[in-house]
Amino acid sequence: MAAPAAIRAEADELRRELDEHNYRYYVLDEPTITDQAYDKLFRRLQALEAEHPDLVTPDSPTQRVGSAPASHFETVAHEVAMLSLENAFDEAEMLAFDERLHELLDTASPLAYCAEPKLDGLALSLLYEDGRLERAATRGDGRTGENITANARTLKSIPLRLQGDRAPRRLEVRGEVYMDRAGFEALNESQRESGGKVFANPRNAAAGSLRLLDSRITASRPLKFCSYGIGVCDGGELPDSQYAQMQYLRELGIPISREIELLDSIDACLDYHRRMLEGRDELGYDIDGVVYKLDDRRLQQQAGFVARAPRWAIAYKFPAQEVITRLLDVDFQVGRTGALTPVARLEPVAVGGVMVSNATLHNMDEIERKDIRIGDRVIVRRAGDVIPEVVAPVVEQRKGRLRKPKILKRCPVCDSEVIQQPGQAAWRCSGGLACAAQRKESIKHFASRKAMDIEGLGDKLVEQLVDLELIDSVADIFDLTLEQLSGLERMAEKSAQNLLDALDNSKRTTLARFIYALGVREVGEATAEALAEHFADLDALMDADVDALQRVEDVGPVVAENVRHFFDQPQNREVVRQLLAHGIGWPAVAARDVAEQTLDGKTYVISGTLDGYSRDQAARLLKARGAKVSGSVSAKTSAVVAGESPGSKVAKARELGVEIIDQAGFERLIGGN
Ligand code: IVH
Repeated sequence: MAAPAAIRAEADELRRELDEHNYRYYVLDEPTITDQAYDKLFRRLQALEAEHPDLVTPDSPTQRVGSAPASHFETVAHEVAMLSLENAFDEAEMLAFDERLHELLDTASPLAYCAEPKLDGLALSLLYEDGRLERAATRGDGRTGENITANARTLKSIPLRLQGDRAPRRLEVRGEVYMDRAGFEALNESQRESGGKVFANPRNAAAGSLRLLDSRITASRPLKFCSYGIGVCDGGELPDSQYAQMQYLRELGIPISREIELLDSIDACLDYHRRMLEGRDELGYDIDGVVYKLDDRRLQQQAGFVARAPRWAIAYKFPAQEVITRLLDVDFQVGRTGALTPVARLEPVAVGGVMVSNATLHNMDEIERKDIRIGDRVIVRRAGDVIPEVVAPVVEQRKGRLRKPKILKRCPVCDSEVIQQPGQAAWRCSGGLACAAQRKESIKHFASRKAMDIEGLGDKLVEQLVDLELIDSVADIFDLTLEQLSGLERMAEKSAQNLLDALDNSKRTTLARFIYALGVREVGEATAEALAEHFADLDALMDADVDALQRVEDVGPVVAENVRHFFDQPQNREVVRQLLAHGIGWPAVAARDVAEQTLDGKTYVISGTLDGYSRDQAARLLKARGAKVSGSVSAKTSAVVAGESPGSKVAKARELGVEIIDQAGFERLIGGN
């Protein structure tokens, strides 16, 4: 039965009131009722809606609890690309930015800028149609993002409908989703208690919380939204100043920065910067700088864009955050190749809202160079997501005679001898794969995403498996059984089976990934790819001498020596044999060596798209035959390969009288079909 008119009117009024209070709280920051009074109104509305489900509207304040988990996020194409920002790191770069704009706009009068903090979270696009929130999307690569509407709806600072009746028919609001420090601490505290994931910093916590498939969990996370601009606007006029636009959004009920200011010159910008830098700790949330935007929108249009950023805006970054604390001790971590990295144990200290108790000291030479002693007061720096590091001791505060950290004579994990190879800074454990730390690290590396990509075989699990002596080498992981796995702590039979499936799936790989996964010292992804492409065959690589190895692009004497040394070890050959016996394999690749160098001395430029070949593939095929591939046409170009819709390079070629060849011509060159 439909709800009586009086009840319907009451529900409407409650919604209006609740929206109004939300606006006062989140946008104006001037609440006029207590939390308890708000809750009372909220519960009354909930009760009415429960009794009369036909009263529920999608934009009711009660509809922010999240819904059943999605299987994936749909892709959203942004109508107007979501751009990034150019950075400035000092006053000189800011002055240069202002000067460039003066030149570009051909004016000598001071330019006005709209300034606000650069929030450290992630970008969100909110599309309102007829005043109602229809869609929320992440930035993604700037052109396409993910549809996360269900998640965004759970943020109380995002209005489900706009205030008043002045909203354009379609309005895309852009801004940042972030977590303030208090919210971040509270979340981590409860995650710790429940044994959930503890986040490294507010930014990661915000990103992780917003992109959850289960929006009910997002609803429980302390996420906030703050707008910084407008994307699409149809069916309405926007003010012609950036600052006025932001005030307009505020009137519509969209939260904007409380710190926003309209500044009349670049000098005022520099002054604003100093004020923000001084006051950043009092803000309650992390910012990594200030964004300045030319205020006049007509001038913005005139200034235009470069690559992926507007010419009329700039992010003036703050320097990395530094604090001083005490160095309690130095421990050593053993890496995959046995290198011992000194790790500083610190008196815990907050750096930019994150507690830090460990920091890297890089290597022993670094400790010596900086003359760091145990017990010193030291400067610790954290920049963005990177590992905190000890910058230097505060020598003036050193009291008494302090001990220098000393390299260990024996490995802290396996007790093997620690040695330093001549000419190398690193000290290494000589235990090789007899050292549990090196075994663990090499197995973690083998399983990692860019290597064999074994989903579910994370760091913690590898450590557990090695500690329990269930595995010894990378080959052993393929012998693991369902019984062994489901017997492990916190491992249900379902996850055990998933892991076995993932192990099975990982066996179909590529030669390049396999080479990378072996973890030869200094053979990263790119080198592994070059080796795979050059030799095309594992046996050929394993038997190649140092000279043959050095013929591979970018392989110098050190890497060649490392590869040779790796395959000279009988135990390594044995592991490779076992891995292959487990059925690891890859599609055959055409070897570079076998291709005749028919294009030696020629230079080609590729323009447009070729059917069946990516630009990279085409270039590789040409290079495999001895040709050079260049990005620009000159008189020295042998020919331009022109695919579908080629660009200006073809015109340039015509101008210079350089030969132009089509797809068929290209295929003749590479001797294909
Ligand atoms: S304006 C056309 N303003 O920084 C300019 N961006 O480095 C587009 N960000 O993807 C961005 N605070 O996620 C702007 N006040 C602010 C911002 C801000 C944080 C983020 C944003 C953007 C990234 C670019």
